Amino acid sequence: MTKDMNFIDGLLGQMTLEEKIGQLNLVTPGGETLTGTVVNTDVAEKIRTGRIGGIFGVKSAEAVRVFQDLAQETRLKIPLMFAEDVIHGQKTIFPLPLALAASWDMDLVRATARVAAREAASIGIDQVYSPMIDVCRDPRWGRIAESPGEDPFLASRFAEAMVEGYQNNDLSHPDAVMACLKHFCGYGGGMGGRDYDAVDLSPATLHDVVLPPFVAGMRAGAGSIMASFNTLNGVPMHANRAVITELFREKLGFGGLVVADYTGILELIAHGVAADRADAARLGLTAGVDMDMVSETYLETLEDSVGAGLIKEAEITAACRRVLEAKLKLGLFDDPYHRLDWGRSAQPILTAANRQLAREAVAAATVVLKNDGNLLPLPAPESGKIGTIALVGPFALDRVNMNGTWAVAASPSTVVPIADGLREAVGNAVSVLTAKGANIVDELWLASRLNVHDWKDLSVVIDVRSPEAMIAEAVATASSADVTVAVVGEAREYSGESSSRSDLSIPEPQKKLLRALKATGKPLVVVVMTGRPLVLAEEALLADALLVAWFGGTEIGHGLADVLFGKSEPSGRLPATFPYSLGQVPITYSHRPTGRPAPGRFQKFTSGYVDLPDDVPQNDGLYPFGFGLGYGTVAYGPPRAVRTELAGEDRLDVTVTVTNLGDRPTLETVQLYIGDPVASVSRPVKELKAFRKLALAPRVAEAVSFTVTAADLDFSVAETVTDTRRRLEGGAFDIHVGPNSRDTQAVRVVWNEPKIEGKRS
Ligand code: NOJ
Repeated sequence: MTKDMNFIDGLLGQMTLEEKIGQLNLVTPGGETLTGTVVNTDVAEKIRTGRIGGIFGVKSAEAVRVFQDLAQETRLKIPLMFAEDVIHGQKTIFPLPLALAASWDMDLVRATARVAAREAASIGIDQVYSPMIDVCRDPRWGRIAESPGEDPFLASRFAEAMVEGYQNNDLSHPDAVMACLKHFCGYGGGMGGRDYDAVDLSPATLHDVVLPPFVAGMRAGAGSIMASFNTLNGVPMHANRAVITELFREKLGFGGLVVADYTGILELIAHGVAADRADAARLGLTAGVDMDMVSETYLETLEDSVGAGLIKEAEITAACRRVLEAKLKLGLFDDPYHRLDWGRSAQPILTAANRQLAREAVAAATVVLKNDGNLLPLPAPESGKIGTIALVGPFALDRVNMNGTWAVAASPSTVVPIADGLREAVGNAVSVLTAKGANIVDELWLASRLNVHDWKDLSVVIDVRSPEAMIAEAVATASSADVTVAVVGEAREYSGESSSRSDLSIPEPQKKLLRALKATGKPLVVVVMTGRPLVLAEEALLADALLVAWFGGTEIGHGLADVLFGKSEPSGRLPATFPYSLGQVPITYSHRPTGRPAPGRFQKFTSGYVDLPDDVPQNDGLYPFGFGLGYGTVAYGPPRAVRTELAGEDRLDVTVTVTNLGDRPTLETVQLYIGDPVASVSRPVKELKAFRKLALAPRVAEAVSFTVTAADLDFSVAETVTDTRRRLEGGAFDIHVGPNSRDTQAVRVVWNEPKIEGKRS
């Protein structure tokens, strides 16, 4: 980068008010994937006349070049900045973000973001609208698919890894793209699990649960953030000066660019806080939203508002400066075409190495929930132990759903379907018979909603055959096989934006299929495609082996075959609780205790559900956060603390011995949680504070050590959203270690009079 901040000062000095406002206008040219109902018009003309600063949703290098050429016709030749929704890959699609978080492998997460950055940059993309780091404890919300799940610590590590992968420590490099932390903030807690809905949060929960991933992403250097659609305690985030400017910028030190979400500024009218477009624009700019996405209210009204004395030109100049600074960091003032030129020679799209990483990511993300009698891995194809596999279900041959939601630039044609992957893995040794068995859903109205992007390919195709005929075919296929692999679940657009569900089950036609398959008496492997935690209580009874494969992306076929035959160890651990029943949501392992905690089973006058059976955990869900099995058998010893009395800034080493009792190598994710049994406020029963994913050779015991410091013990005492005070209280702490958030063993330590009082976020 040769140009510096002085250059920006000089440029700003030459700009008219109109030109500055033009830089704040962020548009999409329309066509292809839209995420709102408004589309910008006359984009080319507006660029040529200096009324656009950035564009998103441009899908080809040729189009990027054409638009950038137009910007070079303007008086000051300020380059455009191009953005895209690169959420879990650009052309090589990796498992969904929720699935990548399930890997608990941050090197892998970073590597996927690196690949995504290179692929996107090669067609001229400068900024990606990712990572999405909204902590979410309500799986009805479809956007949990895009998030790292329910836990702020895991989400924070995910945020850092994604930012590092995208930006690679040097945004001016042509193969780096600017990360955009989103959605700022609180969006994961919408009322009723509905998208775009109101969020009410205590200031302390905001600071302890919602903000940590944003702070972590900011500290990792994220260049931008995106405001969220929700209100937070009554104030829409696009008008929330307290949280965006006073808290995140001024107190926590964020120095980057803030973009609006799609028509988020205009929606201030619908939220009931702005009277008209001018009012909305004024509120958005004053809150600290630098770029107005799609609404064009800034473009239309800000100049008049300055004239009328409602806004100071200095506020527009400050926002414009941040846009120009982002472009400077991205190296665009030195050469607006450098990503395009690099991409043409580097050709980094869908390379064999990219595909290999996507394949490995499938195994790392797949969570085994049940594996009775070690049904998995299936015997090696050449062993002769199985002759026929029945691959059944609406996803067996599918390409369109496999990328999951938010794969806007990818094509289903590059996907390896599950049937192809299995057939490749078994060669001629085993025959793989397929049967659809059921529609994803039977209702036409629902299918048409799920086919929202049907200008491309249909993801839900209702078969011409009757449901009964399809089940009969599947049963006949399963009856002639040695083992059945049923792939069932949600369509890709069942999760994602505007895809909240009021029911968390596998759709009924597929449940009927599973019941019929169970009745064949053949061993049944159930593979679940999903973008959210589902209620799998019945499937857990029907299946001999139950796997959550999420949506695995381009290499799902190969990756799943690797898992089924044990070529790769499935090593995913749930990033969010899978509830036992819908009524348990919102749900998290990290809940506060109640005055009447439920024992394991229902008991009158304790906190539980009168209509849940006794053998069901009342408030912990069916499968807890952090849960997942490997193919090995791993035993945990009790955690050992070097000492149990500590003070001030001591460091505590906690060690646990983890033993692979099996005769195959395995991967285990050791998790450390802390509980604070007595404090001035009721603290969550457990909070994740550390984890380590390790490879264990057969019959090997390994001592795993973690270091706990006083910084792991504090909590927010915020009374307002801008209050960053934290408190660290001395006393007893339980250090829990185990394979998931439920099955932990603990050691109690006493931390005396920690001296870090009044610390800030
Ligand atoms: C709306 C979504 O909320 C956001 O995540 C996305 O980046 C924008 N649309 C742009 O497509």
